[in-house]
Amino acid sequence: MNPNDPRAELRRFVMELPKAELHVHLEGTMEPELYLAMAARNGLATPYADAEAVRQRLREARDLPSFIRIYEELIGAIRSAQDFRDLAMAFYAKAQSQGVIYAEVFFDPQLHLERGVPLAAIFGGLERARLEAAQTLGFAARYIMCFLRDRPAEDALQVLRDSAPWRDEFIGIGLDNPEVDGFPQKFAAVYAEARAMGLRLTTHCDVGQPNTVAHHWGALDVLGVERIDHGLNVLDDPKLVEAVRARRIGLTAAPTLFYTDIPGRMEYRAGAIRRLLDEGLLVSVNSDDPGMKRSLYVGDLMLRVQQTTGVSRAALVQLARNSFVTAWLPDAEREACLARLDAYVAAHPEPMPA
Ligand code: ADE
Ligand code: ZN
Repeated sequence: MNPNDPRAELRRFVMELPKAELHVHLEGTMEPELYLAMAARNGLATPYADAEAVRQRLREARDLPSFIRIYEELIGAIRSAQDFRDLAMAFYAKAQSQGVIYAEVFFDPQLHLERGVPLAAIFGGLERARLEAAQTLGFAARYIMCFLRDRPAEDALQVLRDSAPWRDEFIGIGLDNPEVDGFPQKFAAVYAEARAMGLRLTTHCDVGQPNTVAHHWGALDVLGVERIDHGLNVLDDPKLVEAVRARRIGLTAAPTLFYTDIPGRMEYRAGAIRRLLDEGLLVSVNSDDPGMKRSLYVGDLMLRVQQTTGVSRAALVQLARNSFVTAWLPDAEREACLARLDAYVAAHPEPMPA
């Protein structure tokens, strides 16, 4: 593309726009090549001859449960503290190349504990990566422990308690995996205990799931979350729109593509993000599982949202602003991030119409 082409200029503007990533699963950042390298160095047999075969397998995902089955299979390659460190560092470098200056990263301890990988290995690798990213890249990250909605709440509570020695190495909790019956009520006690520990609270409410409106209300009123991961179906209930606005709940949307590229998926998600912005809600754009969903990172996805809906540059800046406003940053750090965003926008004025 000619660098003077307005599309090239918009692309550069979006890629370099300072932004935070608030909804990304560390495990889901694993690119097929890294999966194969980890499986090989851990001496694990895989049925895949090459990265393209892994991509082919990922293309089989049709919906959230079928995606999670593949996700759980592939993350079987992660075994050691070094693996967690490598996975996180690869993501930080990639995110930084797309203008992300701060990330809050989910991890799923239960999926590793049930394979015999101890908490010490998980936290050891995560913390090494966090410190290394700060020192070598100047990239800031924090971690959010996610529990699995399709496993018993008692297991989540046990993991939360067992994590006490690493309490300072994560800032909050979330819920992910398939959105099964009983969510969110069955996790009320876990959230009460996490709140008492001073942890921040979020949960997934995935897009287009059964009983989605009731699940959003439960997330707000039973779990008491400050953010909702995805949250596009807030638009299904005008009272939810009101409540989310009044309570200043962050919505960490993820307009991702599966390999199947279900027709209309991006149009629906990008359109909903635009409507949420128009409603004045604190929505941001996030990558969710970039290594497993077509290698699309936050800059790529913001660009897709713009291309799909035609939103203005001011709307893109608002999405970036929302990511910092709803991040779980100490005030001084938040102000510094917002100042970087403001300086960037001031240095890149809108081109004059020809
Ligand atoms: N785990 C990884 N990605 C997820 C998503 N989008 N929803 C629920 N659980 C997940
Ligand atoms: Zn997610």
